[in-house]
Amino acid sequence: MSVNFLISQAKNIQKVIDENAPEIEALDQNIGDGDHVFNVQRGLKLVVELENTIKDLPMDKALNMIAMKVLSGIGGSSGALFGTFFMSMAKTTDLNKNINFNKACEMIINGIQAMKERGKAGVGEKTMMDVLIPVSDKLKDIKNKNEIEQELNDVIKIAKDRMLATKDMLCTKGRASFLGERAKGHIDPGARSSQLIIETICKSVINQ
Ligand SMILES: Nc1ncnc2c1ncn2[C@@H]1O[C@H](COP(=O)(O)OP(=O)(O)OP(=O)(O)O)[C@@H](O)[C@H]1O
Ligand SMILES: [Mg+2]
Repeated sequence: MSVNFLISQAKNIQKVIDENAPEIEALDQNIGDGDHVFNVQRGLKLVVELENTIKDLPMDKALNMIAMKVLSGIGGSSGALFGTFFMSMAKTTDLNKNINFNKACEMIINGIQAMKERGKAGVGEKTMMDVLIPVSDKLKDIKNKNEIEQELNDVIKIAKDRMLATKDMLCTKGRASFLGERAKGHIDPGARSSQLIIETICKSVINQ
């Protein structure tokens, strides 16, 4: 995995989030303040705009630059959480060597672990962590490297199931936690955007 790969992923994700923006905006209008998709779009734009600045940098330096941009450039819970994600990816050991599939998984696992610590949300609290924690657990558990396509299809399925499961949950973190029972019946916007991001990355790795 290279810095160029990161940028190309950001561009792919941008396209998918743009296509699904009305739906994500509506979800955040149901149980939040409506700005979630805008925050995600802004973050992606900031990453893509960094292309020329970071494309020849070592991975850790590029990730730290992304983290700084995202932290200072996006508001709300998302900015802090996504910034933390990139900063912790950058702390993964041995990023100066070839970054293979295992190492890329380790980076993502580290990033998600740091988001969990930062936001203090676990599974079942109706946030993006309902998608990201099970995805991270599955990545830790990928044993059969010869069956990467099947394993990544499993990741896609886990992300989708967990996103849908947020619909019937009460929310105990973030703005939607003030809604009590009224949050029930609505999918969490952060869970939906995270699921789309995971699906996009997995599909692009499968089709490489
Ligand atoms: N503590 C948390 N840990 C992880 N994710 C969270 C947390 N709080 C909220 N979220 C996620 O952030 C999403 C909302 O992100 P948004 O970009 O709209 O920021 P926001 O408006 O500041 O959110 P909020 O008001 O819910 O904190 C929610 O749908 C949820 O998935
Ligand atoms: Mg919001």
